[in-house]
Order: sequence, then structure tokens, then C-alpha cells
Amino acid sequence: MKFAGISWKLLLVALLWSKTLAAVIGIDYGQQNVKAMVVSPRAPLELVLTPEAKRKDISGLAIRKRGKGIERTFGSAVGSLVTRFPKNSLMHLKPLLGKTEADESDIVVYLREHPGVEIIGTKRASLAVLVDGEEYSIEELSAMNIQEIVNRANQLVKEKDSQSVDFVDKLAITVPDFFDQHQRRALLDVGSLTTDSLETVLISDGLSVVLNFVFKQRDFVPGETQYYVVYDMGAGSTKASLFSILQPVNETEPLRIELGGYGFDDHLSGSKFTLDVASLLENKFLEAHKSIRTDTLHSNPNALAKLNQAAEKAKLILSANSEASVSIESLIDDIDFRTKVTRQEFEDFIQESVVDLIKPLEGALDKQFWESQITLKDIQGVILTGGSTRVPIVQQRLISVIGENKILKSVNADESAVNGATIRAVQLFNAFKTKAVDIVERSPSEYGLRVMGDDTELIVFPKGSAYPLTTTIEIARMDNLSKGLALDLYEDGKIFRKVTLSPDVIKKAFPIDECTDGISFNATLSLSQNRIFDLDSIQAICSNGPKADESEEDGGNGSSDQNEKLSDSKGKVRIKRSPKLEFSIEEVPLLHLNHQEKYRLREHIRMLNKEDSERFEFERAKNELETLLYHTRDFITSEDVAETGPKRYLEKLANIIPTYLDWLEDESDSADKADIISKIAAVNDLKSKVEVYIESLAEPLNTEQFEALLAKADEVSNKINSDREKPHEGLAALNETFSQAGYDIQKEYFKISLPNYLSNPLSTWKKKLEALQTIVNATKEKITPDALRNDSREELLELKLSFDQAFMELEEIMEFLEKARNYRFRELLSWYQRAEKAKKRQEMKSKSSEMLKSSSSMAASSSADVTDSITSASSRSTSAASSSSVHSSTSSTTPVHDEL
Ligand SMILES: *[C@@H]1O[C@H](CO)[C@@H](O)[C@H](O)[C@H]1NC(C)=O
Ligand SMILES: *[C@@H]1O[C@H](CO)[C@@H](O)[C@H](O)[C@H]1NC(C)=O
Ligand SMILES: *[C@@H]1O[C@H](CO)[C@@H](O)[C@H](O)[C@H]1NC(C)=O
Ligand SMILES: *[C@@H]1O[C@H](CO)[C@@H](O)[C@H](O)[C@H]1NC(C)=O
Ligand SMILES: *[C@@H]1O[C@H](CO)[C@@H](O)[C@H](O)[C@H]1NC(C)=O
Ligand SMILES: *[C@@H]1O[C@H](CO)[C@@H](O)[C@H](O)[C@H]1NC(C)=O
Ligand SMILES: *[C@@H]1O[C@H](CO)[C@@H](O)[C@H](O)[C@H]1NC(C)=O
Repeated sequence: MKFAGISWKLLLVALLWSKTLAAVIGIDYGQQNVKAMVVSPRAPLELVLTPEAKRKDISGLAIRKRGKGIERTFGSAVGSLVTRFPKNSLMHLKPLLGKTEADESDIVVYLREHPGVEIIGTKRASLAVLVDGEEYSIEELSAMNIQEIVNRANQLVKEKDSQSVDFVDKLAITVPDFFDQHQRRALLDVGSLTTDSLETVLISDGLSVVLNFVFKQRDFVPGETQYYVVYDMGAGSTKASLFSILQPVNETEPLRIELGGYGFDDHLSGSKFTLDVASLLENKFLEAHKSIRTDTLHSNPNALAKLNQAAEKAKLILSANSEASVSIESLIDDIDFRTKVTRQEFEDFIQESVVDLIKPLEGALDKQFWESQITLKDIQGVILTGGSTRVPIVQQRLISVIGENKILKSVNADESAVNGATIRAVQLFNAFKTKAVDIVERSPSEYGLRVMGDDTELIVFPKGSAYPLTTTIEIARMDNLSKGLALDLYEDGKIFRKVTLSPDVIKKAFPIDECTDGISFNATLSLSQNRIFDLDSIQAICSNGPKADESEEDGGNGSSDQNEKLSDSKGKVRIKRSPKLEFSIEEVPLLHLNHQEKYRLREHIRMLNKEDSERFEFERAKNELETLLYHTRDFITSEDVAETGPKRYLEKLANIIPTYLDWLEDESDSADKADIISKIAAVNDLKSKVEVYIESLAEPLNTEQFEALLAKADEVSNKINSDREKPHEGLAALNETFSQAGYDIQKEYFKISLPNYLSNPLSTWKKKLEALQTIVNATKEKITPDALRNDSREELLELKLSFDQAFMELEEIMEFLEKARNYRFRELLSWYQRAEKAKKRQEMKSKSSEMLKSSSSMAASSSADVTDSITSASSRSTSAASSSSVHSSTSSTTPVHDEL
């Protein structure tokens, strides 16, 4: 396989268009930073940016009480809250996942990095954080973090195609190979808490990096196995993974990647370096301020958080400079602290760590999982990844051991894991097609089983086992099962799960005494793709020695019908196998989330999501009000508005604006959204009155204008009154025809009732006329025989505007009257045609039943004349009607005509 010249991204894209409408998200869930990438049919491999358009996000969130509810803050905003609210800033939680209170060293380190956070044990013996009296399990907090990212990914997928129904339903989270069973299960629980429909897989971070490397590297010499080490020094740990990469000679066969060795140190890390710098700063501070006691400083979380934040900054500066200036405002007791740290000081301080840097590498080369033992000189290159490999002394140390030419600083060390993990996820989920790669993952841990009563652990999957993997092992026969069977599952010599088969279950499978040679068990165990070691199933096997009563047994079915008889008709030992037996499990030392707890936590997260989105809307309304207030203040104080505007409204606004601004500042937190909306409406109403006033400055608003308005009011009222009675003008032309046919055209016309879309608006005519009359009355009061009373211009304008409004509404009524006339006329014509047809049918009937007489043709020809004249009248009126009514041709309302 050669990727000659084609970028790995394009490769994926070209093969992408596939079956599902789902999206996959790959998340590099680091201790300090989170990066995410989404793949959907329309968004091939897009990095999920933060709301600030950054490529990586802070891992963690802040939870604070706000008003009546709880507010959560995600991303970089947490970084600025941490020094003010250290108890509420829950960052970098990864090292606490799957841990218990007994993991003291992890908790101590965490609390040094995150002073003030209150860590407690849960009922499950796992860890949780107490915030304002409420317990949040680490799983729940991590799930909130991941969910927020998944939501952003969904938004991104939507942006790519607004029509799309794609959404993220598959999640891949990177996992360090040293994560144990509890940490892995906790991560999987995090995935399942994120959304109901999310499928989760864990992807080795080392494998992710090498996969990214392979997809970006153009070619590997066919037939030649190459060895690479991924050296990853992140915020939380340092890991080294040895891989072999082989391009088979037959180039149509997939490239093969295999893990051959692994070493790690879960405390040597970037955050340890930060704590080291913090210690340096602390020493300098205490030195300079002898009055401050160490205890005092250590019991002040805000001060420690400030020190840690300054240390992190200084550490980054020291990677590029030989000296860093540090300045911390009001560190403690209002003391502003200024100092300098040199790179030399830092490097001297971390000497021990520098020595340890090589240990993970040695670990990876030490006990290799394959036969050929590779040495450092066989290695093609060491791929550096993780932020802390940028620290100069780390690089120097690695170069001194490995050699400069073998150090590969990948193009983008920051994103290699998220790229690789996402590609791997796409392969594992089989979501989209990618170039085939043959991956052999091997377990750096060993997995074993200890049977009740045995002293030794039975190794089921030794170190280096390629997984996923399933095996069945035989547990030797037992003579005494009166207490049932207990199996303990081990990982690297540590028990993590207890399996128990009750005596009843065993008895039900095989009654006592039936198995003369005892009962043994076959246990099926697996190491899953996520490297979860578990008992899948267990069967009991009953053996009967030759001493058993053969005559009885031979013809019989055995006492247990569902048991399967395996052997044997000729041999001496008969063996029967039970179906899969029920067993119970207990996790030690901590329990994982069960279904009920997961349900409860999902509901809790949903509730917080709702609160957050309501708060978001609330804040948006507040911002809208605030912007409107400042905007309006500028508007009313601008020169021409202040000069020419309506004094009354300007005064009102001048009062309201500062009142509302104060309210926003002091009281709005406990308000609800409706309060804000009504304030916005009040301001907008006044503001638009001012605007209309200014637009109408040209209006004379004098006696002449109002007299003209009064005249128009008369005219409009009269027109409405006469129009209401007036029938369609087409009636006159048809009057004669109808009369001849024996109908009263007026009567039939007004019998036609109107559909709702016409009758409803028309029913308001009276009210509207009265409204106009009120305005007319008010106006008449103001008009003295020769002049207007001296009213304010505002009032006069309002009066004038109310005339405009009333006229507009009455004009609408007139339009509806016109539509009603057209409607009735059309309906009248079609009623007439139907009535005539019916009449004719009636005549035909009576004619055929009587004798045929030639004189009848006279009547027929005269009725044909009538129809002609109607059709021409009809076509005239339809063209008029169709321009005034949309419903002209499709009206489904039939007029009431009982005679028909
Ligand atoms: C190369 O591998 C492919 C697939 O495994 C196989 O079909 C093909 O015959 C092989 N070609 C050679 C030359 O061995
Ligand atoms: C029990 O497991 C062993 C090992 O896999 C297998 O050889 C044997 O046939 C199994 N016994 C029965 C009764 O299934
Ligand atoms: C089986 O074990 C129980 C308890 O461990 C013991 O009381 C009993 O004597 C044992 N029976 C046999 C036959 O060993
Ligand atoms: C064996 O069991 C089957 C099903 O339970 C039953 O029909 C059959 O009669 C039994 N045979 C003997 C010999 O008991
Ligand atoms: C229709 O004709 C009759 C008599 O010919 C007359 O009384 C009536 O006023 C006419 N109606 C219309 C609407 O022209
Ligand atoms: C308007 O004034 C007239 C006479 O002054 C009175 O009859 C009428 O009821 C008034 N109309 C309204 C709507 O106030
Ligand atoms: C109206 O009031 C203004 C001042 O308020 C005054 O100058 C003007 O003479 C008055 N006009 C009439 C007709 O009363």
C-alpha cells in the first residue's frame, strides 16, 4: 500500500460516501486539553473548534450557583474562573476516573494542582466532587464535558448541511494503555452518560499516534519490518509504545501495525513540571515575605491557584526563553508578587524527573511482546508527541539517549492522537470505508483468575496477548460445592471483580450425588476490544465414573433434561454439560454505575442542560435590553432628536433608561425572562413613538388638515354603509334571464352565505366604524369654530395617526366587501346552472315517459340561449373576481340553497 502523493485525508474522503447517516466523533481526552474531530457523510474529518475557534479545549468545567439554579461553564472560560472560584473549577479530572479514596497519592497530587476542590468518596467507593453541597461523580462531570463537545460537533455537522439529519451517535475516546479495568469501565460509563444513543469505544492513545503517522508517511519499503517508538509526554503521564510496521511484499495486502512493548510513568508529566515551577515560586515568595507562614499560604486555595496558574505560564515561557518574569497580583494578603525564574533553576529543580524520562522508553524495550528483541539501534525513529516533549531539557535528554537523527517531531504533535483515534474509530465502527490496515493490539497487562480455595492465580491472558480475544478454560473438578463457586478476576495481580455461582444454581444443574466424579466447570473469558477482561459464561460439567449404576443410567435421560449428554456409550466416564449458569458479580474495590444510576445521572444532566439553555436565553434577553437601552440613550440625546423630538416621550425615556440600567445591574439576576421582555417592549414602544413623531415633522397638524380628515371620515363612513347593501353590478344584466326562469335574483343573491375568511373580517365593520366615530368626536372637541385648541403636537400627531389607522382598517373592510360581492356572484351563477340542469333532467324524464312531441324543441333552444348569456356574463365577472380573491376558484364552501 502506497499513499503516494495523496494525503491521508483525501483517501478517507474519497471512500467516505457510505451507508449510514450517522457521524463519528473521536475525542482525544487528555488530562489538560481535549481535542475532538467529527466524521459525517458531509463533514469528513473536521476538527471540532471551541466557541472561541480554538483547536483545543480546556478539559473540565466550572459549576456555580447562580440565582435560583446552577450554572455550568465550559472551556477556556474555566481557566479564568479558577483563581476566583477554585472550589467550583473542576478541571483535569481524568486522573480521578475509576479511582477510590484509597488512591491517596492521586488525590494528593490532584489537590496540589487544584487546591480547594472538595473530593469525597461515593457510595460506590468511587470518587466525586462536592460543589455547594451537591455531589457530582467524576463520571458525571466528565460526561458533561464530553457532551458539550458532542453538541458542538452536532452543530458543526448541521452547519455543513442544514438539510442533514446526521448526528453524532458513535464516540471514540482515547485511553492510555496503562488504564486499568476500573478506569476503562469508568470511561465507558462516561460515554454512555453522554447521550442515550451513543456507542462508545476506547482507543489506545499510542496506537492513535502511530496510525496518524502511518497515514501521513508516504511509503514503507515492502517486506521490511520497521520499528518505531511513540514517546508521549502529556499533562498527566509519560508513555512509550514500541510498534512494528510492515508493508507486505504483496502490496495489495494491508499494512500491518503491531504493538511490541510498552512502558509508562503515570506521575512524570507536564503537570508535575508545573507543580515544580510552582514550588520554586512558592519558595521565592516565602523567602521574600517572611511574615507569611507556609501553612497560611497552603490553606488559601485562591493563592495556590494563582501560583499554579503563574507556574504554568512560566513553564511555557521557559521552553522558549532562558528566563521568565512572573507577576501575581494580590497573591495573598494583598501582596503583589513579582519575581523571575530561570530555565537553569527549573532544570536543576527537576533533575530527578529528567533521569526518569528514559524509564518509559526502557519499559517499552524491556519485555517485548514478540520474539525478536529489538534494541534502540534497530529503531527507525522515535515519534515525539504530547505537549511536554517541547520542554528543552526533555528533548535534550531524549536526544542524548536516542540520537538526534532518530527523533521525529511530527508536523502536528498536538493533533496526531485525535486524528489517529478518529480514523481508528471509523474503522472499528465500520461507519465509513478507509484504507485497510491490519492492526495487532497487544495487552501490556496480564489477566488471571483465582478459583476459590486455590492459592495460585491462573493466568488466562498473559502480557502481550493480542486482543480482542476469547478463551475457554477448564476449572478442575471440585468435590465440595456446598458453598457454591467463587472466582476472582485479576489484572496484573490485583483483584478487580468477584464472580459467584450460588450452590443453588449448581444444585439445579446437577443434583447432589449424581456426579460421582465431581463437577468441573468450563469458563469462557474474554478480553474485549476495549480491553475489558470478563467472564462471558460458565458451564458446569458433571462426570460419572465407571462405578455408576449403568443399567439405570443407560436407558435414562438423566435427571436434568436440559443437560447435554456428551459421552459416552462405550467409554467408562460419562460427562454431561449444563447450560450456561447464572452468576453474580461484585466489583472491587469500587462499583461501577448501574442502570438506575445511569438513568438518574442522565436525567440530572438533562435538567442542568435545560437550566443552562434557559439561562442562555435569559442572558441573551438581558443583553438585548442592555444594548437597546444604550442605543436608545444615544438616540434621544442626539442633537436633532433632543431638539425636535416629542418632549413627553423623551422625558419618559430619559427616566426609564437609567432606572432599567440600574435594575439590570442590581436586580435582574432574580428576575425572569418575561420581566425583561416586557421592559424591552416598553422601551421599544416609546422609542418608536419618538421615531414616528420625528418622521412626521412635516405634517401641518393644523385646522385645515383636521377638517380634511373629518371630511374623509364622513366620506368613508358613508361609503361603507352604502357598499354593505350594494349587490354585485352584474346582477342587472341577468335580472331578466332569472325572472324568466322564475327566480328573484336579489333574493337568491343575498341568500348565499359567506365563508369564514370573508364573514369574519366583515363582522367587525360596525366596531371599526364606531372607532372612527370616537376619533371624529374627539377631534370635533378640539376644533373650535376657527382654530385648534392649543394642544401639544404629540397629542395632535397621535390623533392624526389614529385617523390613518382607522382609515386603513376601513379600507380593508371595503376590500372584503368587494370580495364578498364577487364571491356571491360566482356562487349565484353556478347555483343557477345546477338548478337549470336539474330542471332539464326533470323535463327529459317526464318527456320520455310521455309521448315524443316535436314542439318541445322550441323550449330546448330557448333554454340554450339563456345558458349562453350566463356563460358570457360569468366569464366577465370571473376575471374581475380572480384578481380580488385568491379563493375564487377553489372555495369549498357551498352556499346554502335548500331548494336544490
Ligand atoms: C496479493 O494478495 C491478494 C489478496 O490477499 C491476492 O488476491 C493476490 O493473489 C496476491 N498476489 C500475489 C502476487 O501473491
Ligand atoms: C471445556 O473446555 C475445554 C477447553 O476449551 C474443551 O477442550 C472441552 O471440550 C470443554 N468441555 C466441555 C464438556 O465442553
Ligand atoms: C464441604 O465444605 C463445608 C464447609 O466448607 C464443610 O462443612 C463440609 O464438611 C465439606 N464437605 C466435604 C465432603 O468435604
Ligand atoms: C427421555 O426424555 C424425553 C424428553 O423428556 C422423553 O420423551 C423420553 O421418554 C425419555 N426417555 C426415557 C428412556 O426416559
Ligand atoms: C329586476 O327586474 C325587476 C322587474 O323586471 C325589477 O323590479 C327589479 O328592480 C330589477 N332588479 C334589478 C337588480 O335590476
Ligand atoms: C359621537 O358623538 C355623537 C353626537 O355628539 C354621539 O351621538 C355618538 O354616540 C358619539 N359616538 C361615539 C362613538 O362616541
Ligand atoms: C399655544 O401655546 C403656545 C405656547 O404654549 C403659545 O405661544 C400660543 O400662542 C398658543 N396658541 C393658541 C392658539 O392658544
